[in-house]
Amino acid sequence: MTYILGIESSCDETAASVVIDGRTIASNIVASQIDLHAEYGGVFPEVASRAHAEAIGLVVEQAVSDAGIGYEQLDAIAVTRGPGLVGSLLVGINYAKGLALMTGKPLLPINHLEGHIYSLWLTKPFHEPDFPILVLIVSGGHTELLLMTGHGQYEHLGGTIDDAAGEAFDKVGRLLKLPFPGGPHIERSGRNGNATAYDFPRAMRDTSYDFSFSGLKTAVMREVTVQPSAQARTKRKRGAEKRAQLKHDVSISDIAASFQAAVTDILVEKTVRAAQEFGATEIFLAGGVSANTMLRMKMRKESQLPVRYPPLNLCTDNAAMIAAAAHHRIQLGLTSRIDFDVLPMWNLNADTYSE
Ligand code: KG4
Ligand code: ZN
Repeated sequence: MTYILGIESSCDETAASVVIDGRTIASNIVASQIDLHAEYGGVFPEVASRAHAEAIGLVVEQAVSDAGIGYEQLDAIAVTRGPGLVGSLLVGINYAKGLALMTGKPLLPINHLEGHIYSLWLTKPFHEPDFPILVLIVSGGHTELLLMTGHGQYEHLGGTIDDAAGEAFDKVGRLLKLPFPGGPHIERSGRNGNATAYDFPRAMRDTSYDFSFSGLKTAVMREVTVQPSAQARTKRKRGAEKRAQLKHDVSISDIAASFQAAVTDILVEKTVRAAQEFGATEIFLAGGVSANTMLRMKMRKESQLPVRYPPLNLCTDNAAMIAAAAHHRIQLGLTSRIDFDVLPMWNLNADTYSE
């Protein structure tokens, strides 16, 4: 049996987990900072790195002790190297390096997006898939369509050209005065709404596999807010959705349902089309937005292929997925020197690990 300790601190969750053989979670600790960021309506980088620094020691110790082992029983330590917030990533990396030096264990830098993909390997029951797999990663920071042709091998097919899917949920959530992060609240509110009440635009008529959500957000904004005067408009730029004033007769649940229908239509159409074009055997969904029930159901309905997604607690950021990804890298014989630095803009493709 191999025990890998994963450490994740790329955004607003301080997380540590011990995973056995890349498949079984022995412990999974996630300290969320959501309450700290709620008042800003988004993640505030300085607040995030300070909170990581305060939490990381306890979170890692708890993960090792919950797994019922000591540090000496670990086979390796894995840590998120990027993409993410520089200050947040640094906290995790520095802690992991210190631990690796102290314990003499190998340290593996892991791409956060690869972690999201390997959250699928932690589902139970599990059978090894046949490649290629079409992977859609949808989170607060990313919207990535990838072809996974083998373990550790990815071909980028498309991504967002503006907002990430989760970011669009969060911005619309802010417009509708729902708590942060907006995704789960929009889903909840939309359950009582009419998804055809508003016909929001689906920017997907082009043949590329890139996504765009900013037009959709603007359409929602026009529909639900009192339009400011031209003079006021020039003063409002960033954070406009936070300050926007809602019209009185707006049905929050209808807007939520209709917006969610538009986002999921866009995601499903491109994913299913790419899966057909590239001869994928299965579709894998990962990342925070893959917790969305409408997305899961539509993808199953529209695709002839099996569709897999992680259990809810592994959709959002966690460290078990980082340990699971590290297990597969070790299986491939891939290791790393300890003197690596953070990569806040790290793209996931075949040769990004080789530097
Ligand atoms: O993967 P994650 O925890 O963090 C990043 O790596 O970004 O994803 C967080 C994102 C947030 O934007 C949140 O609103 C969204 O996932 N999210 C959802 C749902 N649950 C979380 N979006 C739609 N429906 C949900 N049920
Ligand atoms: Zn994530």
